[in-house]
This record gives sequence, structure tokens and C-alpha cells, in this order.
Amino acid sequence: MFANFMAWIDARLPVTDAWNKHLAQYPAPKNFNFWYFFGSLAMLVLVNQIVTGIWLTMNYEPSGDGAFASVEYIMRDVDYGWLLRYMHSTGASAFFIVVYLHMYRGLMYGSYQKPRELLWIFGMLIYLVLMAEAFMGYLLPWGNMSYWGAQVIISLFGAIPIIGDDLTTWIRGDYVISGATLNRFFALHVVALPLVLVVLVFLHILALHEVGSNNPDGTNIKKKKGSVPEEEKSKFEFHEAYTGKYDIVDAIPFHPYYSVKDIMGVVGFLILFCWVMFFVPEGGGYFLEAPNFTPANGLKTPEHIVPVWYFGPFYTILRVIPDKLLGMIGMFAAIGMLFALPWFDRGIVKSFRFRSKAHFVNLVQFTISFIVLGVLGTMPASELANLIGRIATLGYFGFFIALWFYSNNENTKPVPERVTK
Ligand code: HEM
Repeated sequence: MFANFMAWIDARLPVTDAWNKHLAQYPAPKNFNFWYFFGSLAMLVLVNQIVTGIWLTMNYEPSGDGAFASVEYIMRDVDYGWLLRYMHSTGASAFFIVVYLHMYRGLMYGSYQKPRELLWIFGMLIYLVLMAEAFMGYLLPWGNMSYWGAQVIISLFGAIPIIGDDLTTWIRGDYVISGATLNRFFALHVVALPLVLVVLVFLHILALHEVGSNNPDGTNIKKKKGSVPEEEKSKFEFHEAYTGKYDIVDAIPFHPYYSVKDIMGVVGFLILFCWVMFFVPEGGGYFLEAPNFTPANGLKTPEHIVPVWYFGPFYTILRVIPDKLLGMIGMFAAIGMLFALPWFDRGIVKSFRFRSKAHFVNLVQFTISFIVLGVLGTMPASELANLIGRIATLGYFGFFIALWFYSNNENTKPVPERVTK
């Protein structure tokens, strides 16, 4: 009966074809490792945010008078409201952890290089929209850090010559941050940006499946045609049934190999996620900050206004550049550099495994700089912090500039024809 039903549907909409092409029979390189968990985990967290967000909206009140109290109501009186809220607030931090690791994988294995530039650009657009989504979501509980965090960031636009003041008023919808600002942020956070995110993720996956996945060796598996050699067949339990399907030696079907692997990733992730949610939902003040447990107060500035940890690196770049306008340009340029990464890297070899020592050193220094920038962004400013922040900012931008120079003529190792491990 089911087969008949599917035949009826397939004659009208290619559901089975799409399922096989993009999921069940998607030819994936057989050497995916730990770092390849985070794409599917990002999808899981996206679904979690959307579902818990819908349920939170059922009891949340988007007004200056009611927002803070409605969040308290959700936490105390709504059945399992605390669970929904913690799933959403911890989910926001989890989203960034997963996405940062996902991006870092791309950086290590050169997954942004030709022919995956557009895939990378879609990824960066997702990242940009995700930051806007998180920034607007953070205003909604209408706590004191929500208020002052938004105040600091929106007032930055005031530094733009000529249009700055009008622009900030336009963004706020008022002369100060008020219920009008909260209302529009609510509309964007709940409807507009999630829609954009979902569309971008769809395009991201389409672009990936058009060119095929990269892998930890950075090789093009499609080049090596043929079926799997006899002596390797025993490695795959389901081998007989599935391999040899694509005429690509190093490809295996997504299902069952990676569906099973990804489920393992999901279980590991959920153990960690639940532990945070149930035992340390505030994440030591990093996931939910202390001043946000008091209502927004335009007359009382929190002692240290620092953004949530995931904005840390860019906030530090903004803060260590003495001029407000230049700081803002620096911050946006830092994100712009990531967008342009496929063009900064002029190399042909993708994975760091087969690239030069210089590249490895550059990658390590970038990693350290980014983490240092992130840590500083969550700390109050000081002379020493500014100095370290400036050095790390140089490290951040230096990565891209150095890459552009050495990648044109790099001392790389030979890339194997088949994937290694
Ligand atoms: C909501 C956020 C995102 C979702 C749901 C998502 C989803 C996915 C999925 C399912 C894959 C295939 C599985 C995998 O390779 O892990 C993938 C691959 C990829 N994503 Fe994302 N992604 C997101 C954000 C990003 C961002 C922010 C970037 C970078 C700017 C990015 C860059 C890439 C790249 C380069 C690949 C191909 C990796 C390779 O083949 O080695 N993604 N993404």
C-alpha cells in the first residue's frame, strides 16, 4: 500500500528521487572524521531553536512593560516553561559552538576553495544572519544587559558620518531603546530572520550537493573512478549491497554509513547539551549573564557591559581600535575577510595535512588569536587587555594577508590519489 502511495506521489513530485539524491544515496567520501559531525548538528540545533522559539512565543509578551515579567512567568508558572527557555538560551550558545567548529573544519581542510566558494559564501551569510538573530533575541528578555548591550551596539551606527544619527533613530524606531525597538526586534527575530536562515541552509546544502563534499585529505574523490578493490571490501559490513554504485572508489552512500555516524554525534551532543541545560543553564554567566536577571533600566548601567561570548572576538576588535568609526570598520572588515577567504587563498592543495609548514604555523596563530580575542571580549577593558587585544587583532588580519602571499607559491607535499584516513 505504501509503495503504491509513494508511486502516486512520485509521479507528481520527485520525493523519492530527492531523498535518494540528497540523503540516502548521496556519495560521501569514506574518510569523514569527528569534524564532519557539526553540519548535521547545526541542523539539529536550528530545529531546536525554531521549535522551542515557537513555544516560548506562546507565552512571551513583546512589550516594554510586559516582556521581563512574561519571561519570569514562563520560568515559574508555565508547565515546563523553564525547560523551553533553557533549551532556547542554551541552544543559542550551542548553535555558535557547533557553527564555529563547523567553520573551523572548513578552514583546516580548505573546504572553501574552488569549487566550493559559493557554498562557503552561503555559510558566511548564514553566520551573519545568525549573529543578527542572536543579537535581536538577546534584547527580548528585556533584562538590563539586554538593554545596555543593544544600546552600545546600536549607538555604534551613530559614528557613521552624515547619516549616523538618523540611522540609529531609524533602527531603534525611537530616540532611545524602547518598546518600539523591542517590538521590531521581536518581529525580525521570530519571523523574518528564521525564514531567511532556513532558505539559506537549503541553498547551502544544494550548493554542497552540486559540487560534492570535501574530505580531511582535501582530495577530489570523483577523480578516482572504479569500484572498491576486493581486499578493502570486508571493512564495510554493508559493502556488497552499496558500494560500486557510483563508480567512485572512495565514495560510500550517506545511508547507512553516515546516518549511523551522525546519530552517534547527536547522542554525544545531547548528553553534553542536557548536562548544561539541567545543571549549569547559565553556563557560569557566559550563556545567561547576571545583569539580565534584573529588568531593563535606562538609568542604571551594568558595571561591565560585555556581549555574550560568541560576539567576543569581533567586540574585542571593535574595542581595541581607539576610534569609534575605525573600530566599527575593523569589526565589519574582520567578518568581510572571512567572506573573501576563498580568494585570499591562492593555493591548490586544500587540506593542511599536505600544505606547507608556513600554513600550519599561520593556522595555529590564527586559532590562538581568535580564541584570545574571544576571551578578551568577555572581560572588562584594561590597558593590558587592550595591548593583548591589539596583538591578537594583528594576528587575525595577518592570517589572511600572509595566506595571500605564501599560497601563490607554496611548498606543498604530494596529495595522494586515494583518501588516506
Ligand atoms: C545553520 C547553520 C549551518 C548548517 C545547518 C549547515 C549545514 C551543513 C551540512 C549539513 C553540511 C554537510 C555535512 C558536513 O560537511 O558537515 C555542511 C557543509 C559545509 N558547510 Fe555548513 N552549515 C551551517 C553553517 C555554515 C557556516 C557558517 C559555514 C562557513 C562560513 C559553513 C560552511 C560549510 C562548508 C565549507 C561545508 C562543506 C564542508 C566539506 O565538504 O568539507 N556552514 N553544512
